[in-house]
Amino acid sequence: MTDIEFTVNGLPAKAGDDPDMPLLWYLRDRMMLTGTKFGCGIGACGACTVHVDGVPMRSCSLPLEAVAGADVRTIEGLSPEGGQTAVQAAWIKEQVPQCGYCQSGMIMAATALLADNPDPTDEEIDAAMTNICRCGTYPRIRKAIKKAAQMGGVHG
Ligand code: FES
Ligand code: FES
Repeated sequence: MTDIEFTVNGLPAKAGDDPDMPLLWYLRDRMMLTGTKFGCGIGACGACTVHVDGVPMRSCSLPLEAVAGADVRTIEGLSPEGGQTAVQAAWIKEQVPQCGYCQSGMIMAATALLADNPDPTDEEIDAAMTNICRCGTYPRIRKAIKKAAQMGGVHG
């Protein structure tokens, strides 16, 4: 079987034995990148959101064969070494998380939103942020996205 090659957080990754394996399984169980969470497993909640070539995708529903040749980025690879992105800093400033389970997916989704739209309105935030938070942190998420936009967005 031909290997599926891609990169994860800039490092080469290779999988050949199971092209149907969801990317989330590979990230968590093979690479031990456990910041990306398993929630529903059916593409509904967004806890497993990663970037695939910069696009937010639900890794529980993405077979490895779909990421051949792609650049996958997880929460672990989002910030420069030892630093924080503006989105992460804004999340801390606004004290967004409650239990925290959904939050790495939320940060990945918010980062992709700001890369596309550096100054989103409430309506644009609500339309783009389809991830689910069972703790109901949506108002703080919205505030943190606006704070991150003021701080320079994904380039802050
Ligand atoms: S775990 Fe992937 S969308 Fe819920
Ligand atoms: S902070 Fe608990 S699910 Fe979102």
